[in-house]
Amino acid sequence: MSEQPNDASHERSGAAVRGDRFSGGPARGFLSSLAADQRIFEADIAVDRAHVVMLTEQGIIDGEAASEILTALEAIAVEGHDGLPDGEDVHEAIESAVIERVGPEGGKMHTARSRNDEVAACLRYRLREDLLESVSATLALREALAGVAREHTDTVMPGFTHLQPAQPTTVAHWALSYERAIARDTERLVAAYDRTNCSPLGGAAFAGTPFPIDRERTAELLGFGGVVENSMDAAASRDFLLESTAALAGVATHLSGLAEDLIIFANKEYVDLSDAYSSTSSIMPQKKNPDTLELVRATAGTASAGLDGLLTTLKGLPRAYNIDLQRATGHAWSTIDAVTEATGVAAGALASAAWNEQLLADAAGDGFTTATAVADRLAMHGLPFRTAHAILAEAAQQGGTVDAIEAAAENVLDEPLDTYLSPDELHALLDPAHSVETRDSLGGPAPAAVAEQLDTTADAIDDDHGALERRRAALEQAHESLTEVVHSHV
Ligand code: ARG
Repeated sequence: MSEQPNDASHERSGAAVRGDRFSGGPARGFLSSLAADQRIFEADIAVDRAHVVMLTEQGIIDGEAASEILTALEAIAVEGHDGLPDGEDVHEAIESAVIERVGPEGGKMHTARSRNDEVAACLRYRLREDLLESVSATLALREALAGVAREHTDTVMPGFTHLQPAQPTTVAHWALSYERAIARDTERLVAAYDRTNCSPLGGAAFAGTPFPIDRERTAELLGFGGVVENSMDAAASRDFLLESTAALAGVATHLSGLAEDLIIFANKEYVDLSDAYSSTSSIMPQKKNPDTLELVRATAGTASAGLDGLLTTLKGLPRAYNIDLQRATGHAWSTIDAVTEATGVAAGALASAAWNEQLLADAAGDGFTTATAVADRLAMHGLPFRTAHAILAEAAQQGGTVDAIEAAAENVLDEPLDTYLSPDELHALLDPAHSVETRDSLGGPAPAAVAEQLDTTADAIDDDHGALERRRAALEQAHESLTEVVHSHV
């Protein structure tokens, strides 16, 4: 390797930044995050641009150097990550590439900062975009669930506890139960976004800088909502990765339950998945398997691994910066990619599935699922609920027929059942659809109660779309104005 600072191969190796002492060695590949940093290449270009603009606006570097650096960054952006020289990471490689093009003056780019605040800024910058994608995916899934609910307000189905037939409900009520849960996931992702959307830039290595930098200005140029004030916190903290990953793990947990329900429902033929979301067997030609949903279910494993990987990597790290943090990043990316993709697949599988209304209606009363409805009515007519429960428990053991209910009532009450319940009333109560219709308490499965829930859901989806669009627009706006400002300096 050449000792000449202006030798091209010297610069291509990234030694322009690290000097010759740390230029290589057997652990070079182990140390390097350059390949993985492809994901933050564009973020780093943006962060470099904003930093250089601020440096020249503050009179920290002269306009000519700024102009040359910004021009070089433009060309480097066009060449892309693959065009970079070697380096320990993308920050170093881009700086080497700038110096390669501009000469020693290019070294002014790294004034008043460190890779520590730089990488934290890049991660937040890139994660914002990914989080908005994941928010958008949760919204698509919620729309699919709301669509199923709108279509199946009257589709009665068996509801389960412990996977045993429990009480009749409707497909709409089931679907909205997931929509409401995933709505909270959307909120958690948006909250994680808002805390991610703060600029650590200017924290430098951790101890700030003597240069008269303007941290608010770089934050503004990059579209951040504010700054992470304490410079040590700015460089060292990764809880924005942690809470984003935790929110995604919550999504994955909900997805796994949703997928499991659909797999079970497909198994019972309650629901027919479209071929596009199914697969077959290489040997058993009759098979149609819910493979996509099984992979959605398994995504909880990916998310859990990501969350655990982050927690374990971050635990016990001393202040301020340690390169363990380089290994934390991947856990967040693998989680957000897997969960966002699985969310979209779940939405597609749901939206294209067909519900077997007749089979569901027939199954809704299986296993004496209307027993609670009869007990409730006896209690409404004056019996203590516990006594009513005892009658129906005994009737259930005898097969849950009308005869069994009457016999159990005689046995427990020493009175005929029709003292409390006419045969007509009993007959109606044993009809699952009627049972559902009576369960009209707030949030219940009765079509009237579900209609209100559908309104709540539609409003919430609208609001969350608004929240998403405002954040997207702010990023786009920042991107455009940064481009303008950069052009004014070249
Ligand atoms: N590539 C590193 C990361 O992902 C940033 C570089 C900071 N390195 C250092 N030795 N201070 O965190």
